[in-house]
Amino acid sequence: MAEEAATSFTSAMTLEQSRVSTIPQRYVFPPSQRPESNLPVAATLPVIDLSLLHDQSLRDQTFREIQIACKEFGFFQVVNHGIDQSVMNDALETASKFFDLPNEEKMRLFSGDVHKPVRYGTSLNHTRDEVYCWRDFIKHYSHPISDWIQMWPANPTCYRKKMGKHSMAIQGLQKQLLRVIFESLGLNPEFLREEIEEGQQTLAVNCYPACPEPGLTLGIPPHSDFGSITILLQNSAGLEIKDHNNSWVPVPYVEGALIVQLGDQMEVLSNGKYKSVVHRATVNAEDKRLSIASLHGFGLETKVGPAPELVNENHPKAYKEFSFREFLDFISRNDFAKGRFLDTLKMN
Ligand code: OGA
Ligand code: NI
Repeated sequence: MAEEAATSFTSAMTLEQSRVSTIPQRYVFPPSQRPESNLPVAATLPVIDLSLLHDQSLRDQTFREIQIACKEFGFFQVVNHGIDQSVMNDALETASKFFDLPNEEKMRLFSGDVHKPVRYGTSLNHTRDEVYCWRDFIKHYSHPISDWIQMWPANPTCYRKKMGKHSMAIQGLQKQLLRVIFESLGLNPEFLREEIEEGQQTLAVNCYPACPEPGLTLGIPPHSDFGSITILLQNSAGLEIKDHNNSWVPVPYVEGALIVQLGDQMEVLSNGKYKSVVHRATVNAEDKRLSIASLHGFGLETKVGPAPELVNENHPKAYKEFSFREFLDFISRNDFAKGRFLDTLKMN
């Protein structure tokens, strides 16, 4: 651990616990980047009952809804996805217990190095962010789970068991969703099956403590996730996505639902037919918000480029290949709040 980085470290939880009535200047975003208050809650964001895919008579319609959601938003929520509510609740409770631990305990896992398979931190990367965001996190590689689970937090003692159960369930759901999404692109559902099996799963467990001035800061600034898809579990609302008109749309909290977001690898694979969704998290004055984002992608060194089936005369190849490693190298060199990695891949 870099001494300097560690000594200058203040978690968002520490600030919340010190009951400050205003936020430190370092957390104040420029006015143009602050959240808008009173955005209309969009009734139109898609919520899909995944169980209907198994119903002969409703499969086509449900499939079509997923296709439209991917094209329109790069985003949808799923219900009846087959993961037990108790598994999800346990994971969120475990996350809550982790962030409630004393700082010294959490700092054992601290690292500012984005290449580390397990790391605790605050903001995006507090060693380089110019403006801090109101967020603490623990991120860890999660697949194959036996490779990584020994490195996950040992405290709270239930962490590995409960987070592991959730993580494996989500990994299974991911495979099911990718098959449908590939099919919706006109690809074989078996497309990249082995690469998916050997792909990466990273859990980003996020904590956004109650914030005395939620209008001045963000929990996480606008970005798209790098991978194929992200499956996000949350305990309350706070996520916002950017729609086609470049407007921020708050994502409503739906009991029992999981949020599915398309990432940069999907945009590249689809040769731009689908776009990765730009999103951000706001914070609130009342309650700590927790989320568990499961980021799925291909192997560290696997190069992902547009699917050959989607490249033709009318749709020339629009993106360069990239690997997860190249993405990590990019974010370790650049403040990802400033420029999008995806833009470096666009051709012409
Ligand atoms: C992320 C993310 C959003 C949220 O972890 O990449 O976008 O609502 N999280 O926590
Ligand atoms: Ni994200």
